Amino acid sequence: MIWVEARVVVDSVVAMGTTTSLPLRRVTFDYPERSLLCWTPRIPEVSAAANSVSLMMPFVEPYLARTLRRTLPDLPDDLADQTRWLIDQEIAHQRQHRTFNRQLVAEIPALTKVESMMRWVFRRLETNRPREFSVAFAAGSETVAYSIARWTEANASELFMDADPLATTLFMWHLAEEVEHKSVAFDVHQALGGSRFKYLLGAILSLLILGFFTVSSSLVMLNAQGRLRNPMSWWKLLRWGVSLSFEVLPNVFAAGLKSHHPSEMADPISLVSWLRLYDDESSTMPMWWVPTTAVA
Ligand SMILES: [Fe+2]
Ligand SMILES: [Fe+2]
Repeated sequence: MIWVEARVVVDSVVAMGTTTSLPLRRVTFDYPERSLLCWTPRIPEVSAAANSVSLMMPFVEPYLARTLRRTLPDLPDDLADQTRWLIDQEIAHQRQHRTFNRQLVAEIPALTKVESMMRWVFRRLETNRPREFSVAFAAGSETVAYSIARWTEANASELFMDADPLATTLFMWHLAEEVEHKSVAFDVHQALGGSRFKYLLGAILSLLILGFFTVSSSLVMLNAQGRLRNPMSWWKLLRWGVSLSFEVLPNVFAAGLKSHHPSEMADPISLVSWLRLYDDESSTMPMWWVPTTAVA
């Protein structure tokens, strides 16, 4: 395992809530002189799909953060502390994706059109809908994010074979922290009187928007990779889409049941264990381990 000191810098802050201490990790990624169009050379379609998700983060995560920040005065102290921590994590995530995306869009200028669509959609959601709607959307989005983390962890050795370790670490760090705060937005939704049905609608809408923009951006990136007309590329994306649906949909519908709480969903163990490898004294954490093919 490679320990990163120079390029991934982690500052540790410990937020002291009334009931629990929650670590905040501020990680900084740099991608000097490298192409981000295809950082998974063995399976370029992974880069297309992951980059599409990254592209959406600077639009969706600030929306979620602003939504949850508006709920703070109405929350009990414990939950307000946890919500502040979630907001800090989301702001840190989108900041790192913004850096990544800036370099990606410089490489593929056609992505600016997709970014404009994302900006328009999230502005419309924020300005035309009541707070109750946005909180349900936030709660649903967190369950979707948790489910993607579980699926990605389970398939990591296939998806990230020979991948760029730094880009892989960006995505796995983000997903690991999504697991860490998987139930906070749901608790906010419930504390404000939100129903299970509205939570379910929020999750489904979140999933539809994610799916739409993942396909839209992937089209642009597959075109840039010269794979737009390659049936194998579409087969892989379809196969992952179906496989991911089998992870996401049961979690979303389970959390819509009265007896269920997101905290009961099992954490992907390697992601959680990896976050624990963060070292407070040296402010470092290891890169995510990337499998490599043996050289003959
Ligand atoms: Fe996030
Ligand atoms: Fe999140």
